[in-house]
Amino acid sequence: MTPGIKPLVAGNWKMNGVLASLSELQLLNSGFSVELQSKIDMLVCVPASLLFPASDATKSSAVQIGAQDCHKNLSGAHTGDISVEMISDVGGSAVLVGHSERRTDHHETNAVVLEKAKTALAHGLQTVICIGETEAEKRVGTTLDVLKSQMAGSIPDAWEKGEMIVAYEPVWAIGSGLTPTAEDVRAAHKFMRDELVVRFGEQGAKTRLLYGGSVKPANAVELMSIKNVDGALVGGASLKAADFLGIAAAYETIA
Ligand code: PGA
Repeated sequence: MTPGIKPLVAGNWKMNGVLASLSELQLLNSGFSVELQSKIDMLVCVPASLLFPASDATKSSAVQIGAQDCHKNLSGAHTGDISVEMISDVGGSAVLVGHSERRTDHHETNAVVLEKAKTALAHGLQTVICIGETEAEKRVGTTLDVLKSQMAGSIPDAWEKGEMIVAYEPVWAIGSGLTPTAEDVRAAHKFMRDELVVRFGEQGAKTRLLYGGSVKPANAVELMSIKNVDGALVGGASLKAADFLGIAAAYETIA
């Protein structure tokens, strides 16, 4: 938590979900209570194939829909890619950039992520820039160095539209059931906050910092209570509305 920052609970369906999965979004619509809406924002980043039907299914609810990646260019000869205009055209309001699976599977460097982030922000999207150390980097104690260089390399110097959000996702915690200790999360988020304040001043103090990596209903209260953790980025546990709502419900008990 950070005083004055409204937390964001964001889901990442990754390459999961077909039209039948929209029933989970209907459950989110009805389960995201007005009281909880006053405390947190909720976002689900669906596969590109579901952007339109998911936006349609949530159009009269407070649940926001986002994409999982975008191209740095606005249009052109880029087979298989999706542009920021395409995302917003079908009702998407957010996009993830630089998720570790994109960095690994598609060899996306900080420079690539930076260009995507610039384009997404200029188009007015909520842009969740993902960073995090690998298991090997953690083992040799370079976590904060990795975060420093990923932040320096992937976060634009300035933006006029959109909202820049940073998600800390230790690569070794993603999908593994493992999470860092609360103290490690606290230290990482404090480091990120300090870096952002040095670079952006007041804007950095207000930037939402999400934690991601094996967030579950059972550990949500502990993780979301940590200072400078302003929400979650949730993979596996976002696929079932009951689990995702269980994570969001952490904010019913956090002061
Ligand atoms: P997980 O994934 O919650 O399944 O660990 C998180 C993510 O990759 O965003």
